[in-house]
Amino acid sequence: MTETRNNEIKPRLEIDAPTARDSQRTSGPQAGRERRERGTDTEGGYGGEGESRNLPPCRRKPLSTSPDTRLPMTPTVRLTDEQITFYHENGYLAVDAITTPEEIERMRAAYDEIFARQAGRDEGMQFDLAGTDEDDKTATLPQILDPRRYSEALRDTLYEANAHAIARQLLGGDAKMNGSHAIFKPAGYGAETPWHQDAAYWSPANDYHSLSVWMPLQEATPQNGCMEFVPGSHRREVAPHRHINNDPRIHGLEIVPDAVDLSGAASCPLPPGGATFHDSRTLHHTGPNRSDIPRRAFILIFGVPPTPRATPYDFPWQREEISSYTKKQARK
Ligand code: NI
Repeated sequence: MTETRNNEIKPRLEIDAPTARDSQRTSGPQAGRERRERGTDTEGGYGGEGESRNLPPCRRKPLSTSPDTRLPMTPTVRLTDEQITFYHENGYLAVDAITTPEEIERMRAAYDEIFARQAGRDEGMQFDLAGTDEDDKTATLPQILDPRRYSEALRDTLYEANAHAIARQLLGGDAKMNGSHAIFKPAGYGAETPWHQDAAYWSPANDYHSLSVWMPLQEATPQNGCMEFVPGSHRREVAPHRHINNDPRIHGLEIVPDAVDLSGAASCPLPPGGATFHDSRTLHHTGPNRSDIPRRAFILIFGVPPTPRATPYDFPWQREEISSYTKKQARK
């Protein structure tokens, strides 16, 4: 795992005090039906410690947010022009706070509950991203697709409203939420999510204009598996991927070893409720969880309609997959 520091400038996120106390809550954007191209992970990790003045910008102290425990659906954040420029130049952006500590607490309880009851496992929506996903094996990187469907506390949140508002700033006003997933790294043995581009999971017939919002429900550190990105990699083509360990029984993908240059990677430790945004082609990674606390990440995906490619990519890894995830999907 590359040990690099994020020396990029990341301006602070502007946060307005939530004022809306609407009791008339409207439904948030509806997740699309789960499809294979829902994506499967999003991650990265490593980092560095230091005095606060020397911390990478994405490790700054979280901004204070309203103690109000209500969940206003009105967005409370807005990116600055500098942040928008940073995202388009680098293919990722880290922000300090995208929701309140109170909402994080509620979501963390709901998140732990749906993993504990193995929500979605029977329907192929929960599986081990990094292993062969056999029922008698402990999953080292369990994932739930569309966790919003399994817990009300994960739907129509301030997180969602703010993520959507920021996605509209970055992608355009017609950006819609296309999916969500939850990736859990158990304390002490949670597996690495290898370097990959999310577009490698999606249809080779399209160029996507999409981003993933990755929010930890506790602090995300180099020790427990925070996000790591290769700046500017969103401008590259989709690189050759394969299934983890070159084992098509494993759903998770990894860049073919030595196929791309991963130098210059930037790590983004975050406080709970901070978030990173990354393009569907941005190379990213999270390390294993070597800490004694679980690492929970809740990811939302937004996009505008993709552009059909004149010549589709050839993604042989998608034809090779024989994972239990694929088998369960095929039975649906
Ligand atoms: Ni990913």
